[in-house]
Amino acid sequence: MSFTIAGTGYAHPVRTLDNEELTRMVDTSDEWIVSRTGIRSRYIATTETLTELAVSAARMAMDNAGAEAASIDLVICSTVAGDTKCPTLAGNVLGGLDIRCPAFDVNAACSGFLYALQTAAAYMDAGLAETVLVIAAEMMTRHVDWTDRASCVLFGDGAGAVLLQKGEGLLACRLRAQPDKKNLLVIGQGKSHSVFEETDAAPSVLAMNGPEVFKFAVTSMCRDIKEVLDSAGLGPEDIRYVVPHQANLRILETARQRLGFSEDQIAVNIERYGNTSSASIAILLAELVEQGKLQRGDNIVCTAFGGGLTSAACVIKY
Ligand code: UT7
Repeated sequence: MSFTIAGTGYAHPVRTLDNEELTRMVDTSDEWIVSRTGIRSRYIATTETLTELAVSAARMAMDNAGAEAASIDLVICSTVAGDTKCPTLAGNVLGGLDIRCPAFDVNAACSGFLYALQTAAAYMDAGLAETVLVIAAEMMTRHVDWTDRASCVLFGDGAGAVLLQKGEGLLACRLRAQPDKKNLLVIGQGKSHSVFEETDAAPSVLAMNGPEVFKFAVTSMCRDIKEVLDSAGLGPEDIRYVVPHQANLRILETARQRLGFSEDQIAVNIERYGNTSSASIAILLAELVEQGKLQRGDNIVCTAFGGGLTSAACVIKY
């Protein structure tokens, strides 16, 4: 099926916000945040736009692949937090990269990067594209309720990108959505009005039932990983790394034990980034490549869950 990951890249804002600084904003402690989530610090945009972060990550992925702007047939961005609703984030990055090709956003919340990868694969399988740039970029701190200690300590900002070329690297992929659980994680539109009426829509801050999302995460992650491994005809022993959405270290540890992976098979950078929604897998992947931890031919499993509620998993030969 479809693509090879030819290049990877990532970017994050300059400013960090560590747990100690958060204790001066809400009633929390470094001990609570580290023991319940594994997070020690996160990046928060102060001067950067999301478009700038997305462009930086994409440039790194293109350089990493040795790809020219002119070779790119399609740009897909995953985000819940674009600088503008229209133009889309994908539309906004084209100028910064000097690319002229079709470009659109997908929004499947934290699962969005994997939704975008499967969309890219479908374009390639349909013969509509040979080189696709996929960028996942998020500014969750735009949508965080800074008075809600149960959620504001979790999120951070960043961007990751992959340059995909036609190949055989996507061994299995499965996307899901469970709409009956959609109210467990909501970011509204804020107050809106049309020429006809003014409505009180949900506020644009994030509201979440953490413990229920936690249960959904463990269940869906275990089911989705088993399913894509079966579909690829592989077992945990064939996998170099699980590259999971970075939401909570305890979610990853619980799923790891149930699935029978060893500790060093689970890739983690949550301590430095917090939860960057759909950008988290893309950033982690690019860091693994940069650190020389991922070699050509290694199999990885990516797995995500989030608003919708959505979930997704795929097996990729790097
Ligand atoms: O990308 C997907 C998005 N979301 C997720 O993945 C979230 C999944 N869920 C989680 O990660 C966890 O549920 C949380 C980290 C959000 C919360 O951890 P928890 O162990 O499920 O805590 P809890 O919500 O059950 O709260 C336990 C206690 C409560 O106090 P009481 O009622 O026991 O007195 C909370 O008020 O911890 C309290 N609490 C805090 N205390 C200090 C909640 N947030 C904080 C905080 N600092 N930041």
